[in-house]
Amino acid sequence: MKILLLGSGGREDALAWRLSQCGSCAELHVAPGNPGMARWADEVHALDLGDTAATVRLAQGIGADLVVVGPEAPLVAGLADALEEKGIACFGPGKGAAMLEGSKSFTKRLCDAAGIPTAAYRETASVEAALAAIDAFGVPVVIKADGLAAGKGVTVATTREEAEAAVRAAGDAPLVIEQFLEGEEASLFALCDGETVQFLASAQDHKRVGEGDTGPNTGGMGAYSPAPVLTDDLARRAMLEIVTPTAAWLAAQGMPYRGVLYAGLMLTPEGPKLIEYNVRFGDPECQAIMPRIAGDLAATLRAVAEGRLAEADPLALEEAHVMTVVVAAKGYPARAASGGAIEGIEAAEAEGAIVFQAGTARAEDGTLVASGGRVLNVTAAGASLADARAGAYAALDRIEFGDGFARRDIGWRELERDG
Ligand code: AMP
Ligand code: GLY
Repeated sequence: MKILLLGSGGREDALAWRLSQCGSCAELHVAPGNPGMARWADEVHALDLGDTAATVRLAQGIGADLVVVGPEAPLVAGLADALEEKGIACFGPGKGAAMLEGSKSFTKRLCDAAGIPTAAYRETASVEAALAAIDAFGVPVVIKADGLAAGKGVTVATTREEAEAAVRAAGDAPLVIEQFLEGEEASLFALCDGETVQFLASAQDHKRVGEGDTGPNTGGMGAYSPAPVLTDDLARRAMLEIVTPTAAWLAAQGMPYRGVLYAGLMLTPEGPKLIEYNVRFGDPECQAIMPRIAGDLAATLRAVAEGRLAEADPLALEEAHVMTVVVAAKGYPARAASGGAIEGIEAAEAEGAIVFQAGTARAEDGTLVASGGRVLNVTAAGASLADARAGAYAALDRIEFGDGFARRDIGWRELERDG
């Protein structure tokens, strides 16, 4: 089949790498892509991903049998629906189901309607109502802007003053105010074809920029898969109590979910509770999941897009542990320095790792330079998480990127638990 993969980050580089190895993938096209994705793709196309009509035209021009959508924005904008109208299979949900990520209040209402365990909440649309909600829950309390905010619309306030400041900064904008959940976070990835739901993998990421999980939030500074804290029992429970009823509810509303469902979970003493849904693979979680997939990923993604997951061979996963460490440009997440030269990717890969690219570009003379906040994803597999970490950091140490930095403690929570 001919596949068109959309996106240009580390997540999409990992998807491109894995899809290009599949027997069922005859041609891999990527758009807009990045220099890393160009290593695996048969063709790289220029594209403004915000332009749905242009994206559909590109898929038609290629004669794509399957479009795989990396980021959420085109899905929230209705790309899957536009492709469906032209009879093109799309891995990624339609506009209706993409509201799971596009609107916090949509997800909270779904949880109410389908009886899904989540934090108690109130929706507010004025400073006065928001302050009343904060007083009702007490601190700590969580304040969330409704709508896509690239991870930046959430304040976990530990004092009344902090909570009030967040509310006043939002003005009378719609907010979701939530009870604070105590526990450890883990991510669950499931495939859903509209009806059939299958567990894919667990992962954990490190959202804060600084070591020890301190400092401002980022898109993610590193991740590993599996996340042992999400035991088989807890994963089964989360599938049964959270993911499966979500898919059933969406289908019953006429919005069947086709794609990967990324559930952000809090593992509380009462069991897993839903923090949020994303309608795509996590970045960098995807980079840690792709090397674990043993089967023909392309065939499975097509079966998901075409509603045939139940008939397809279930994807086998390797026993391996995989860690990915993000190398970001200095100044990230506030103001990332761009243009810094990057060398040593081959040397890093000679260590047995794979280096997925995100914010990279080719300078006029062909050298690889940084062009974004998160730049590289150094990814290694091992028989244990400690082995995977050793491999990832040995490879990272071969990379020469003076303008970059990485956290040295990815996986610390899990590795400390190991003793
Ligand atoms: P979200 O964008 O909804 O995933 O929230 C971003 C982060 O805020 C999450 O990854 C959690 O660390 C934290 N968070 C969100 N909601 C809660 C909650 N109800 N209780 C505790 N922490 C939360
Ligand atoms: N790594 C977090 C995310 O992709 O949303």
